[in-house]
Amino acid sequence: MLEKIKAIEAAANDEMGSAADAKALDDLKIKYLGRKGLVTELLGQISSLSAEEKPRLGKELNALKVRIDGAFGARQAELARSPVLPKDHADLTLPGFRPPSGSRHPLTKTIDEILSAFLGMGFKVVEGPEIETEFYNFEALNIALDHPSRDAFDTFYIKNKYLLRSHTSPMQVRFMETEKPPFKIVVPGRVYRPDAVDASHSFMFHQVEGLVVGEDVTFADLKGTLGMFVKSYFGAAAKIRFRPHHFPFTEPSAEVDVSCFICGGKGCSVCGRKGWLEILGCGMVHPNVFKAVKYPSGKYTGFAFGMGADRIAMLKYGINDMRLFFENDMRFLEQFK
Ligand code: PHE
Repeated sequence: MLEKIKAIEAAANDEMGSAADAKALDDLKIKYLGRKGLVTELLGQISSLSAEEKPRLGKELNALKVRIDGAFGARQAELARSPVLPKDHADLTLPGFRPPSGSRHPLTKTIDEILSAFLGMGFKVVEGPEIETEFYNFEALNIALDHPSRDAFDTFYIKNKYLLRSHTSPMQVRFMETEKPPFKIVVPGRVYRPDAVDASHSFMFHQVEGLVVGEDVTFADLKGTLGMFVKSYFGAAAKIRFRPHHFPFTEPSAEVDVSCFICGGKGCSVCGRKGWLEILGCGMVHPNVFKAVKYPSGKYTGFAFGMGADRIAMLKYGINDMRLFFENDMRFLEQFK
């Protein structure tokens, strides 16, 4: 009998310890302590024992009942504290895996920001072809075949008067051929020139062209528009200055500098101690350009400007080598998240 008691207790502890949930535990309680349970059954056998064995084993069995009941309660509390989870359960408290996220290219970012400054002033964005003709890239822009300024727009020729556009200005002509003033447009895009690649030159770079035409558009509007642009892009403290220049398709023409946003105009290494940074070319649309797109003579005036987005991005982010934009080195690109 004592043997049996020990065996039952060991089995009960074992089974209760591995009971997976409250239901399994309840079943075990019935198995051992229930009306037909193993302990109850042993208690039933007591009457057939001898007179001196009866009290001793009766005590033992009752103690066993109490111990099993206690173990049952303890295991029940344990299960309530730590619910046993199914094998495929995901632990939602573990830190997750972060999927690597990409980012926009610094040039794309720069161009988007430039465009959004102009969108805020009511401009519309249009785009044009990168393969152009001599007519749009030069002739209609008042750049004659033998004009020395063609050298300034050194060009990749394809064949039969086709070429890779050397600036975004041909879109001025394409747009005016089909649209009537008044309008304000900006034209972002790639341009190509056969320059040897170095820290500040590439055979391909990016421009943002602007064109505003109406009946009373003046140079004051040009100054006001570009002044607004530099304040919105470079910050409220940014100032601009105009230097006389020459472009065949604008008259008068100017180059525009923005006060150095690093030193505020005092002179530093970014602006080469000048306090100013050159950012774009501009001017009033030349009458010959209006003539080329068959606008009625004398009816409209307008201004145009063109800026190099790569140069502006380099200035803004303090990048000293243009080649970084085109090498797709992740260590560089990841800095623009
Ligand atoms: N197209 C000129 C360039 O590439 C820039 C420019 C555009 C100048 C419009 C005046 C007006 O240098």
